Order: sequence, then C-alpha cells, then structure tokens
Amino acid sequence: MRRAIFPGSFDPPTNGHLDIIKRSCPLFDEIIIAVLNNPDKNPLFSVEERCDMIREILPTVSKGGCSVIVDSFSGLTADFARTKGATAIVRGIRAVSDYEYELRMALMNRKLEPEIETVFLMADEEYSYVSSTLMKQVFILGGRVAGLIPEAVESRMREKLKAQ
Ligand code: PNS
Repeated sequence: MRRAIFPGSFDPPTNGHLDIIKRSCPLFDEIIIAVLNNPDKNPLFSVEERCDMIREILPTVSKGGCSVIVDSFSGLTADFARTKGATAIVRGIRAVSDYEYELRMALMNRKLEPEIETVFLMADEEYSYVSSTLMKQVFILGGRVAGLIPEAVESRMREKLKAQ
C-alpha cells in the first residue's frame, strides 16, 4: 500500500491544490489531504470548514483507483505522516521562488523521518501564480477569481465575507 499525505493550510483550497491531487493519484494507493490546524496563522476558514470544502470539491477530481481521504492535524507534518503510515509527503511547486522554502522543509522532514520522502509535483502552468493568500486578497478586494478556485469555494468565501 503506497500511502502519501498532502499537507497544507488549504485556506482556502484552490484549483492548484486540486491539480496536485489529480497528479498525485496515479502515484499512490491512498492520499491523505492533511489540513494543518494552526490557529496562530489567523485563518479565514476554520479547520472544519476547510476540511468540508475539500470534501465537497473532491468529487470533481479524477482519482482512478486512488482513495483520497481528508484529515486534519496539529504539530509536526513528519509526525502525522509517520503515525498514518505514509511513506511520502506530497508538495506542489509553482515557481523557483517556492523551491528554497520547500527544500528546507523537505530536508527537515527527512531529518525527522528519514524513511519518508517528499515528492514535489508541478501544478499546471495556468495555476503557477495561484496561492490561497493571493486568492483571498483579490477576492476580498472585489477582484475576479473564477477559474482559479472551485465555484463551491468561491461561494463559501462570499458567505464568509457577508458574515464578517
Ligand atoms: O499550505 P502551506 O501553508 O504552504 O503548508 C505549509 C505546511 C502546513 C506544510 C507547513 O507549515 C508544515 O508542515 N507545518 C506543520 C509544522 C511542521 O511540521 N513544521 C516543520 C516543517 S519542516
């Protein structure tokens, strides 16, 4: 059983995240989308809301025979991966600017858990500039994000802003 985790903040999930999930599926039997519970980051969505959104948009991804599970975690990614019996950590790389940060994380995670490999995947170039932070900023300021985040996520963002 080849099991991987795909950790992240997912605040909110974007089409770039979905693209990485789609590309990971042929490589693994099971992927756990691991939503970091990090209240210090002052997220727009609670960890439960982020997990719900991911579950809602997952059916749009073609997964082949791969089973995709959504879970949340606190603490170290490497600890979560080990307790789940994962042998890989999936991360998406968009541009060279992501590389340095991702390399440091991958090497630290390898130091912590030498048996677990980080697998970097490149999202489609149409998402190379898409990040959750940028999507939130543009949406909050009234810009169009259609095609960059799933429609279900966009409507959750609309509701969230109305409630604020
Ligand atoms: O979506 P993000 O915010 O880029 O994801 C970053 C994430 C969650 C993968 C990273 O912050 C992380 O792994 N946090 C958990 C704490 C941890 O393990 N820190 C050491 C990483 S080497």
